[in-house]
Amino acid sequence: MVGGSKSERPFEVVAAHAAHNADYVRRYVSDPTNFFAGAKMQPHPHYSDEQLDALIAFIIAERP
Ligand code: HEM
Repeated sequence: MVGGSKSERPFEVVAAHAAHNADYVRRYVSDPTNFFAGAKMQPHPHYSDEQLDALIAFIIAERP
């Protein structure tokens, strides 16, 4: 399954991060500029910890 065509990251890549490096995904989704200044993905600082955990659980559940 191909994930984000805009990000050019296959879903498998994001899912592997979610499964093995959830903290990275949490921080990336909250604010991609935590990782690089030129990030195109919009920040989501309004997501609660519970929402981020639920998002990660969903991504892992959909992992091929
Ligand atoms: C629940 C929604 C989302 C999740 C969980 C998510 C997660 C991620 C993660 C983990 C990366 C880093 C991948 C890596 O390091 O290889 C990434 C990159 C990226 N994402 Fe998202 N993303 C989401 C929504 C979006 C949306 C809505 C857009 C654009 C409309 C977007 C655009 C991008 C782009 C362009 C990148 C490449 C790096 C950058 O320029 O920021 N993402 N995403």
